[in-house]
Amino acid sequence: MNSTVNNEPNRRDFVQLVSGWCATLFALAASGAAAARFMMPNVLYEADRRYRALKPDDYPEGATFLPDARLFVLRKGNSFRAVSAVCTHLGCTVLHNNDGNGFHCPCHGSQFNENAAVTGGPAPKPLPWYLMTLTRDGRLMIDASQEVKPDKYLVV
Ligand code: FES
Repeated sequence: MNSTVNNEPNRRDFVQLVSGWCATLFALAASGAAAARFMMPNVLYEADRRYRALKPDDYPEGATFLPDARLFVLRKGNSFRAVSAVCTHLGCTVLHNNDGNGFHCPCHGSQFNENAAVTGGPAPKPLPWYLMTLTRDGRLMIDASQEVKPDKYLVV
């Protein structure tokens, strides 16, 4: 009569035990990673849209195109303002009209008057005007993240 009980774990028990611990550790790690990710804000940081331009006296009368910023600085005497050169239709760069008044888009023919309002073509909105200020060292600062009305000038 042999009634011994085998209390030693066999191979199957061992594999199940290790698998269970691995699954538990994986679940804890995944939960920890999810909690850590949750603590980080879902924010898209936009690039700084302020452009430091030259000093007012460096700009001639009329329109000057700033290619890096894709905008025009317009000077009329000692008054300055800045307008976007990005067409509101599909984003082409608009050109200043040769007669000195208004803008036109070479892509699909939109026309904008001297206040950047649409006068023709498929553009749905006027070109935006941007806030212009003077820096401490006397240079023009254009903030393309802040739109202003077309009649807002910086007078220096
Ligand atoms: S992109 Fe300017 S009119 Fe189409």
